[in-house]
Amino acid sequence: MKLMIMGPPGAGKGTQAEVLVKELNITHISTGDMFRAAIKEGTEMGKKAKEYMDKGQLVPDEVVVGMVKDRLSQPDCEKGFLLDGFPRTIAQAEALSKTLDEMGIKLDGVINIEVPREKLLARLTGRRVCKSCGASYHVLFNPPEKEGVCNNCGGELYQRSDDNEETVNNRLDVYEEQTQPLIDYYKEKGLLININGDQPIDKVLADILAALRK
Ligand code: AP5
Ligand code: MG
Repeated sequence: MKLMIMGPPGAGKGTQAEVLVKELNITHISTGDMFRAAIKEGTEMGKKAKEYMDKGQLVPDEVVVGMVKDRLSQPDCEKGFLLDGFPRTIAQAEALSKTLDEMGIKLDGVINIEVPREKLLARLTGRRVCKSCGASYHVLFNPPEKEGVCNNCGGELYQRSDDNEETVNNRLDVYEEQTQPLIDYYKEKGLLININGDQPIDKVLADILAALRK
């Protein structure tokens, strides 16, 4: 399957993607994770992306589009993929559509996780992420078995530098201004699958899987 998962910062895209890609045997493509990996490696692209990410702004379209285009051409995407956090602007969506047309690929669906804005700040400021495998936890809503340690791989958990209150509020504003219009864009294309994300994590997953089976 060729899928995309969208929703505001903290909606649970990464949390759901982690399980979905295993269930469906497809490749997870998270642009946020790709930028964080580039920052860790200290590449020029990573340094540039960090300036935008730390302010809660979007990295320029041309940088993101080029990166995703390269990624989609890799062999592990042939079995299917789940795009997480891309596209985030209408221009990115148009570029994706052109790239997929050129590759002869059709998107099967766009999962849109809906969560009211007032719930998102607490989700993001309490998030902890594994340094090694990227798994997402929450100090209250989804705590690891052992504090500070990843259940999956034993890696160390850290707090993302953009998960502070000020940057989170900017990210939420940017989402509403630039990414929310994609909901209508994909609805018009008949691809949108709305999912109530304001429920326990396993219930959200069950709803996504049920919707995909339809
Ligand atoms: P990115 O990494 O994509 O961040 P984001 O979109 O802000 O989304 P998050 O990863 O914060 O949230 P999520 O929905 O994955 O939530 P999670 O599952 O972790 O992007 C970061 C930055 O990179 C951007 O700001 C931008 O600068 C840049 N960037 C990336 N892509 C770009 C693009 N295409 N164009 C331009 N710039 C780009 O869950 C959050 C927390 O909630 C966790 O603690 C989790 O345990 C908890 N949780 C999850 N589900 C539930 C639930 N059902 N109930 C209770 N708690 C829950
Ligand atoms: Mg994420």
